[in-house]
Amino acid sequence: MTTYIAHTVRGIEEICLDELHEKLHVSESQVLPKKIIFVNGQDVTLFHDLRTVDDISVLVADFPFERAFPLSPEQCEKMLESLDFSEVREKISAHREVNNTFSITISAPLIKGMSQSELQQVAAQIITQKTGWEFTEKDHSNFDVRINVEEHEWYVSVRLFQQPLHDRKQYNESKTAAVRPTLAAAMIRLLGVNSESKRLVDNFCGTGTILCEALAAGYEVWGGDINPEAVSDAKKNLLASGGNSDQIFVQDATKTKWSDHYFDAVVTNFPWNEKVKVASLTTLYKNVVKEYRRITTAGRSMVFLCKRSDLLTKIVKSEFPHAEINKYEISINGQDPHILVVKT
Ligand SMILES: C[S@@+](CC[C@H](N)C(=O)[O-])C[C@H]1O[C@@H](n2cnc3c(N)ncnc32)[C@H](O)[C@@H]1O
Repeated sequence: MTTYIAHTVRGIEEICLDELHEKLHVSESQVLPKKIIFVNGQDVTLFHDLRTVDDISVLVADFPFERAFPLSPEQCEKMLESLDFSEVREKISAHREVNNTFSITISAPLIKGMSQSELQQVAAQIITQKTGWEFTEKDHSNFDVRINVEEHEWYVSVRLFQQPLHDRKQYNESKTAAVRPTLAAAMIRLLGVNSESKRLVDNFCGTGTILCEALAAGYEVWGGDINPEAVSDAKKNLLASGGNSDQIFVQDATKTKWSDHYFDAVVTNFPWNEKVKVASLTTLYKNVVKEYRRITTAGRSMVFLCKRSDLLTKIVKSEFPHAEINKYEISINGQDPHILVVKT
């Protein structure tokens, strides 16, 4: 049995835990902001099937810590000096090549009197002295030591794979305003429906991240976007993922070519009016929700990522007075959008 940390997007931790239970049969776990600590004995190649996990690292050590009693630089040094990487290194080298370099990724906003870069410098010096390995500042693909300081605990771990799990190699065309694949995967899980022979549509598909993730989850996927370049990228990405690129069109989400009641599910990342500008969000939300009502079956499941969930909730309620609506608060890249899950 090994203790791992699954890193994910803030706000989707419980959805991620659900996936860990389902795919790895994880029994022992602890949910923290943006991460889940879990114990598992499965073959690590199975971890590549996880869609809501940004990255996985192997736990080296954890130390209790209280925010109210900030650590002194001397205490930090003592902790770093006590680290022993030999077991984790052996574990990682069992399934990929590891050379004699290491890097450090730090998330430690809770240490007083020591900046994150100072902590990194000290950690790099101590690890070099202890192991003889060479510190690389930019390349994080070999042996990346992750130091996370949380409310009550310090965690030191090492990235399991060379690349983060959220890097989807098969689709990577143009990323403007693209939703992170792990967040898209979490939205698809929130549909809570059996994907078998279900049609899913995203009328703001952009470069197709949601469609690619929905395809991986077993849906028959259809999409549209007003921007021809985005549609061209979405087609390439869907083809590379083994999907059908003929089901994506250049069209306006408020006036689509889709037939009435054709789709079972909707997953959409609305324009946030930041990178993608919109004249009036109210008008757009109203017309899009109406259009989604027309093209979906009764008993539909819809999941929306949006910036103005108050406004969208009001509009959804006026269109579907009996809908059950649940909200999730997300935090990603300095933005705080919401996910709305709508069941009608
Ligand atoms: C937030 S992005 C969606 C990104 C997408 N989920 C992805 O991962 O690439 C919003 C998209 O809405 C598109 N858009 C804006 N207004 C639209 C409209 N009226 N009809 C269809 N697409 C529209 C933009 O071109 C942009 O690609």
